[in-house]
Amino acid sequence: MNLPERVKIVEVGPRDGLQNEAVTVPVEVRLELIRLLADSGLGVIEAGAFVSPKWVPQMASSDELFRALPKRTGIDYPMLVPNQRGLESALACGVQEIAIFAAASESFSQRNINCSIAESLERYAGVVERALAQGLRVRGYVSCVLGCPYEGRIDADAVAAVAARLHAMGCYEISLGDTIGSGTPLAAARMVAAVAERVPVGALAAHFHDTYGQALANLLAVMQQGVAVIDSSVSGLGGCPYAKGASGNVATEEVVYMLDGMGIGSGVDLTRLIAAGAYISDFLSRVNGSRVARALMSTD
Ligand code: HMG
Ligand code: MG
Repeated sequence: MNLPERVKIVEVGPRDGLQNEAVTVPVEVRLELIRLLADSGLGVIEAGAFVSPKWVPQMASSDELFRALPKRTGIDYPMLVPNQRGLESALACGVQEIAIFAAASESFSQRNINCSIAESLERYAGVVERALAQGLRVRGYVSCVLGCPYEGRIDADAVAAVAARLHAMGCYEISLGDTIGSGTPLAAARMVAAVAERVPVGALAAHFHDTYGQALANLLAVMQQGVAVIDSSVSGLGGCPYAKGASGNVATEEVVYMLDGMGIGSGVDLTRLIAAGAYISDFLSRVNGSRVARALMSTD
């Protein structure tokens, strides 16, 4: 099997994980979660979002959160930004990396960011230009790469077109979001093959939600094509507020367990990671969404 020797994990739990919670998680709890995640060796932790608090109240106070983050060498804290207003907030608190988010589905784009795909790309071009001029790094998401909650099947060429535009704007990495987790391995592989014709595979990340339990299989499929960046969420927290029924990202514990078992380095300590997942699951009074964490905690 042709697999990468090393994988970079992008932990999205504090953003993607918590944005969909019914209760607003206080800033101090979000901070403690991030501290524990940083202690586990994760090098990239998406910490929050500068989006409209009317749309996503759970991400309010992301400026306060960012200012209090434990800044350590070797850890990046990208923040989600939908427009110039979000970029202003990011610049005001010294953010060094932002993530912009477009979609391959028109209906999802309208529901999520209140504009068409074309309008979003036009808006993002200005955001990226300004961010790069200010010395920031920009990551780009494409949502609904394997299915849309409103439109169903999404054409891989539509995904490739949006990914190519974001990459051409200056996004250093394009994260391919299976927002509703409906994809299966061959579809995931075909989608990545289509995107890789227009964006180098080394610049691609897999952001797979695990709604249908397919995420690990899909990850293995795309890793064989050279994808070596995986987005995941501790204890499988989360989902998108504008993708009803979508559950969290693949659990980071599951990803680290799989990589460890295959001898692929990620730099993440599974035991410490499980402690972070246990902390937030306890706070939310929720059964830990990671099967790996449940299995290993039951053998303690
Ligand atoms: P809009 O209503 O069209 O924007 O929303 P607007 O410009 O008309 O502004 C409306 C109000 O929001 C105004 O306030 C603005 O000031 C304020 P008012 O005058 O009514 O008091 N506003 C802001 N406030 C704070 N920060 C901002 C900001 N912008 C405007 N940046 C908008 C358009 C894009 C703002 C809105 O739709 C929005 O915030 N959407 C975010 C939705 C979201 O966060 N979704 C979840 C993340 S995406 C995701 O989870 C998918 C992903 O994980 C990948 C995958 O899984 O596929 C990334
Ligand atoms: Mg997501």
